Amino acid sequence: MAIFTFANTKGGAGKTTAVALLASGLARRGLKVEVIDADPQRWISRWVEALTEPFPNLKVQSFATHTNIKARMQAAAARADHVIVDLPGAASRCMAICVSASDHVIIPVQGCAMDAHGGAQVLELIAYLKEKADITVPHAVMLSRVNPLVSTRALNAVRTMLESRGVTLLDVSLVERAAFREMFDYAAPVDRLNPARVSNLVKAQTNAENFVDACLALTRPKNASASALCAA
Ligand SMILES: Nc1ncnc2c1ncn2[C@@H]1O[C@H](COP(=O)(O)OP(=O)(O)OP(=O)(O)O)[C@@H](O)[C@H]1O
Ligand SMILES: [Mg+2]
Repeated sequence: MAIFTFANTKGGAGKTTAVALLASGLARRGLKVEVIDADPQRWISRWVEALTEPFPNLKVQSFATHTNIKARMQAAAARADHVIVDLPGAASRCMAICVSASDHVIIPVQGCAMDAHGGAQVLELIAYLKEKADITVPHAVMLSRVNPLVSTRALNAVRTMLESRGVTLLDVSLVERAAFREMFDYAAPVDRLNPARVSNLVKAQTNAENFVDACLALTRPKNASASALCAA
């Protein structure tokens, strides 16, 4: 069981898209998933509720606030295989509570300075929790909406900034793909979109699967494969 939180204080960084991909990807693998929606605009709640073929093992809770989110996260963690929290794009008490109570915080960052600044605010909060309360929050930055063809100067600037701060990057970035927008328009996860209607669908599906794998890899002990080999 792991609690994943997607955080960036800048709106539009790609949090809800990543939450939708991870939640549906895990549910499709048969895992029991609960999404906690702390965004009053309820984008992820609306998507899960609108799915034309709902997953019986994917639930969503709306209207989480700083007064109830910790209790909701703990209750969901007792029921589900994985809990995923979608935060709004703003610094808030809710974000601080949620980040401190998560097993993994993933910070989506697009190749633009505003997004990087919003991501840095989350990193500063994580550093503050460590310094003032000795709370260690495992975390990784995930590059989002990456241009599939070009590594732009802006993207390189973000990479350089992150590396200079010793920030861990998630192994898989989410590429800019029509499928990742259209899954909201068609109320369907990427694996159920129609290839005749959506360009580069297979590439998007592969990217989404790799992203789910990368998130799951965070939940495994780093030396898991070595121990498995020793035990074999
Ligand atoms: N990888 C991607 N490919 C194509 N479009 C994307 C991708 N990621 C996000 N988008 C689009 O970018 C916009 C913002 O994404 P999203 O809603 O996921 O961001 P957010 O961080 O949740 O924003 P907010 O803080 O406002 O909740 C949306 O229109 C979404 O469809
Ligand atoms: Mg969102």
